[in-house]
Amino acid sequence: KSAYKVALLPGDGIGPEISAVTVDVLNGVARKFGFSIDFQEAPVGGAAIDATGVPLPDSTLELCKSSDSVLLACIGGPKWDNLERHLRPESGLLGLRKGLGLFANLRPAMTVPQLLEASSLKPEVVDGVNIMVVRELTGDVYFGTPKGIEYDEERKERKGFSNMIYWEHEVDRIARVGFETARKRGGKLCSVDKANVLDVSQLWRERVTEISKEYSDVELSHMYVDNCAMQLVRWPKQFDTIVTGNMFGDILSDQASMLVGSLGMLPSASLGDGSGPGMFEPVHGSAPDIAGKDLANPIACVLSGAMMLRYDLDQAEAADFIEQTVNAVLDKGIRTSDILSNDLKAKNIEAVGCKAMGAALVEQLSK
Ligand code: NAD
Ligand code: IPM
Ligand code: MN
Repeated sequence: KSAYKVALLPGDGIGPEISAVTVDVLNGVARKFGFSIDFQEAPVGGAAIDATGVPLPDSTLELCKSSDSVLLACIGGPKWDNLERHLRPESGLLGLRKGLGLFANLRPAMTVPQLLEASSLKPEVVDGVNIMVVRELTGDVYFGTPKGIEYDEERKERKGFSNMIYWEHEVDRIARVGFETARKRGGKLCSVDKANVLDVSQLWRERVTEISKEYSDVELSHMYVDNCAMQLVRWPKQFDTIVTGNMFGDILSDQASMLVGSLGMLPSASLGDGSGPGMFEPVHGSAPDIAGKDLANPIACVLSGAMMLRYDLDQAEAADFIEQTVNAVLDKGIRTSDILSNDLKAKNIEAVGCKAMGAALVEQLSK
């Protein structure tokens, strides 16, 4: 295939800025490798609330379903924080994941030598880190019922509740993604849970252990989530592939971003059973604190575009090329402010903006 249709969802905050860069990079690499991408833009999140009153218009979901792949920048912001839960931008994103059946979220955290000084951890701790977090994406407290905020007449106070629930089939299928992923990488899978306290985690651990019998070539270990949070900053090189639930994976992947140096560097792939398109989205959010100021790092979004080429569009060489391009631009010392380390500042190197980073990537591409 040489012509693809991609649903482009710029969303909110820094979303439009980083998606503009990503489109330029993807178009550049497509030209180079002899294919084309027809980007069809649609609103989601706050942008969709403003335009249509709901965070996920039917037309947006339909467009995504009929596309070869979906590229999402990020959603959310203070403007929409006081709406009812189902009308918030975040509900739009969750609706997309659920609506597209995207139960597996792959979040790689691989350190690059050029950014060792950008991490808040010591270089020898983060040098060579290569972790893949396989986060379950359509279960857990995010989707469990019952949930809500209710007034209790007897107690005369309100209670808030979100049920943490995993069905066996949900654990089994994400465990298989975890084992398959580990098999293609370092052969080690660490399942992260809270089985010492939570029944839902006890079931999780039982099922992961059962599924491991199908993967005798993969070395399985289990770890409690609190310990994992500590081990990630103590000695992250002990991890190869991590499989975990929706909420633990959300938290641990943000944490893992600081091994690399910035949340602005981490891409992700949200995948289903392969029958429909995947969605490719940075790990970070809409960064309201820097939105509209040309300060955002577009690399997480650009690398999400590379994952899209690899996982959905079968253009692995073009994906590799984008990753090499990012590397080459980092080699040149070009940095947005989130990844400008003190050693570069001491050499009087100044941060570039989002647009200039985009221009540098596009220039590098066409060499
Ligand atoms: P955030 O990820 O937006 O920002 C956290 C910090 O990281 C901020 O200081 C921000 O400036 C910085 N940062 C994030 N991305 C960056 C980038 N590309 N370049 C440079 N710096 C970057 O998290 P938050 O502030 O907790 O949430 C803000 C909003 O985003 C909320 O509405 C939240 O619900 C939403 N959110 C959306 C997604 C998503 O769309 N997938 C993910 C996380 C949060
Ligand atoms: C992410 C975000 C989302 C999540 C929110 C915005 C719904 O934090 O993509 O990591 O929790 O999944
Ligand atoms: Mn998150």
